[in-house]
Amino acid sequence: MENYAIHKLDKIDSTMNYAKQLAENGCKNFTVVTAKLQKNGRGRLERKWLSEIGGLYFTIVLKPKIAIKKAFVYNFAASSAIAETLKYLFKIDAKLKWPNDVHISGKKICGILSEIKIKENGIDYINIGIGLNVNNPISAAEIKSVSVNQITGQTESKTKILETFLINFQKKIEPNKHNKIISEWKTKNITVGAFVTVKTANKKIEGEAIDIDRSGALVVITDNFRIKKISHGDCFHLSE
Ligand code: BTN
Repeated sequence: MENYAIHKLDKIDSTMNYAKQLAENGCKNFTVVTAKLQKNGRGRLERKWLSEIGGLYFTIVLKPKIAIKKAFVYNFAASSAIAETLKYLFKIDAKLKWPNDVHISGKKICGILSEIKIKENGIDYINIGIGLNVNNPISAAEIKSVSVNQITGQTESKTKILETFLINFQKKIEPNKHNKIISEWKTKNITVGAFVTVKTANKKIEGEAIDIDRSGALVVITDNFRIKKISHGDCFHLSE
C-alpha cells in the first residue's frame, strides 16, 4: 500500500476541521486524521454526528489530479470500501444507500461526509470523513442505527478495520479504476428499485429510483412519468 501519513488524536471538535487545517497548510495526498472522540462531529446537511468513544471517526485528505466533475467518485469508493471491509473482516452483509450511507438490515452503520476545495484549474483537496459505529454505544432511542459490536457481539479492533479499509479504498481509487467504482457500488445498493422521497435544498421529488447514472446522480421516475436526475439530497426509502 502506498505510504500515507496518519495523525491520531484523542479528542477533537471534528476530524473534518483538523483535516481542513492540514490541507490548507499543504499536507500531502492521503493524509489521515483519526479521533477517539469528537466533541462536535458533523454529518451531512448540517446535522450533528454523535461521536462517542468506541466509534471509528476519521477524515482522509486527498489531493487528486482529476477533473472537478469526477470528484464524486471518492464518496462512492469510500462507502463501497467500507461495505467490503465489513464483509471481509466480519462477514457482515452491508448494503449501500444513495448517496453514501452504509446499512445493515435497514439500519445505518456508517455515514460519509465530504468537503471539497476547488482551485483555479482543478481540485485543491477533497476531504472524505467517515464515521463508523464500531464499539460505541447505540442507545435504545437510535432505532435506525447499528454498530459492528451489536452484530458480532464482541469488542472489535478499530485499527484493524481502519487498516483494511485504507487498503481497499486505495485500490479502488487507483486512476485506471475509476470507471468501475459506480458499477461496483451499484451491485451492493438498496436504493435502485425502491420508492423514494428525495429532499433537496428547494424541492421534494417522489418516485421510483431506477438507476444511478455515470455521474453518481440518482435517476427517479415520478408518478407522472417524468425522469429526474438528482445529484445530491436526502433520500428516504418508502419502507423506512
Ligand atoms: C452522515 O451520514 O451524515 C455523515 C457522517 C460523517 C461523520 C464523520 S465522523 C469523522 C468525520 N468528522 C466529522 O465531523 N464528520 C465525519
